[in-house]
Amino acid sequence: MNVISSADDLRHQVASWAQSKSKIAFVPTMGNLHEGHLSLVRAAHQYGDKVVVSIFVNPLQFGANEDLAGYPRTPDADKVLLQAEGVDVLFLPGEKEIYPDESDQQVLIEVPDLDDILEGKNRPGHFQGVATVVKRLLDLVNPDVAIFGKKDYQQLLVIRRLVADLGLQVRIEGLDTVREADGLAMSSRNKYLSPDERQLAPIIYQTLKESAALLVSGTETVAEIIGRGREILEKKGFTVDYLTVCRQNDLAPLATPMEPNEKALVILIAARLGTTRLIDNLELNLV
Ligand code: PAJ
Repeated sequence: MNVISSADDLRHQVASWAQSKSKIAFVPTMGNLHEGHLSLVRAAHQYGDKVVVSIFVNPLQFGANEDLAGYPRTPDADKVLLQAEGVDVLFLPGEKEIYPDESDQQVLIEVPDLDDILEGKNRPGHFQGVATVVKRLLDLVNPDVAIFGKKDYQQLLVIRRLVADLGLQVRIEGLDTVREADGLAMSSRNKYLSPDERQLAPIIYQTLKESAALLVSGTETVAEIIGRGREILEKKGFTVDYLTVCRQNDLAPLATPMEPNEKALVILIAARLGTTRLIDNLELNLV
């Protein structure tokens, strides 16, 4: 595995692969890798001849009160994992390689509508930061395919819109969420949970599954289902930022009673346990 930290070196590597007509599959990450990330890396080998993974903790996507400074950084352990997965290039840039302009007048990419609902509403500026860094990384890596997790469902939609609206020549793949045995979606932030909170955390996925079963059965309205889910979570000590049933393709919330034409749904939850904020979602395709 070639570890590259400069944008120029990366461009040279990519250009030489392009000459030999190799297809490039790219997995952007912020490191502290777990099985969720590694599932994307394994899939990448099916989409490309060469696999590039980036690790960059992107300051632009963290709010002023968020965990940028404390975000877990484990580059040595990450390198060992990626080496074992047969990754061709690990791109590990410093901040200046990604944002050469040191003024605070960074050019930002906005993705209207999608970037100020749900996660965007709770984390103002977050998706501008994500869209901006992903565009920059796609320009540098110039992949044929870029791979993301559905764990960050709204992020995946933001990136699909970014690619569509700017006409970028890259295929975006979204892969299923990898979970712990008890259902908790894997996340670098799970490390922040106390042992007691860790015991409670799987209730998020249980609530998603129960809500999905109720939606399928059609016996209750969306409002009733959401109300019940919120109540269960709040009783257990979660602070619920949102629990909502949306259309998959644009995250428009479903009205009550349920519109019969909407079949491709996704239930999304963001909830806090103590100081840790967890997100999860479940797709539901009604027949
Ligand atoms: P990060 O949180 O490190 O996640 C990198 C990729 O791994 C994302 O596409 C995310 O959706 C995926 N992922 C995380 N947990 C997963 C799980 N349990 N199962 C499957 N996939 C999972 O998301 C980011 O970084 C950043 O916002 C980034 C896109 C790199 C831009 O900075």
